[in-house]
Amino acid sequence: MRRTMVAGNWKMNGNQVSVAGLLDGVVEGLGKSGDIDVVICPPFVYLPMVAEKLSSHEMLAWGGQNLDTHASGAYTGEIAGPMLRDFGCRFVIVGHSERRSHYGESDLIVAEKAAAALECGLTPIVCMGETLEEREADQTEEVVGRQLDAVVVCLGSEALEHMVIAYEPVWAIGTGLTATPEQAQAVHAFIRQRLSASHARAAEGMQILYGGSVKPGNASALFSQPDIDGGLIGGAALDADDFLGICKAG
Ligand code: 13P
Repeated sequence: MRRTMVAGNWKMNGNQVSVAGLLDGVVEGLGKSGDIDVVICPPFVYLPMVAEKLSSHEMLAWGGQNLDTHASGAYTGEIAGPMLRDFGCRFVIVGHSERRSHYGESDLIVAEKAAAALECGLTPIVCMGETLEEREADQTEEVVGRQLDAVVVCLGSEALEHMVIAYEPVWAIGTGLTATPEQAQAVHAFIRQRLSASHARAAEGMQILYGGSVKPGNASALFSQPDIDGGLIGGAALDADDFLGICKAG
């Protein structure tokens, strides 16, 4: 049985006061343990505070929103996987649509970032999804299949045992337009089926998260779909009550 995972991607939001309040609210609301995995992905500079506040809660983990493909060196302004490990991160998001569109990250770069994460013991949460134009042109499977294949080809099928996938339709991110449970389930099933051609057991156990305007009111309908194993939450992860409501829907 796959465990539900709810991951909060805070994107570039917050300050020391709001981050402390949000973490305290989440910790208090969740309690010490439970049957879901919760991952907080703050901006890098807040990782020490996150590590300090979450470290005694076994169901809570944290991660970066990005990493560099290199492990160290002359790459001004970048953050390496081993640095994330140094602050207790277990996860890192790679290939978020905002990285792909604003920073020109190709399928190959995303795959290299996933490889860099695995190399230092981080679990990559590999994001993929189609734009509205691609969906309307009936290209969703082609686009998601291409994004998925780039990772499998670069990393090899064994790596599938150590990653998480997030399906995030670009048109649903931050727009309030959520994919219907049926639309999301169809793409999740497609992803799992495509992975099973490479590694059937890993595909069966793979946590495939849905992201895109998940709210407390729509989370349980999404999470109850057979191939939706949790969520990657943006805006609603910035409000402790909303985030807790989504976690409870898992
Ligand atoms: P929203 O939940 O704000 O739509 O963002 C989703 C997302 O991009 C999470 O990575």
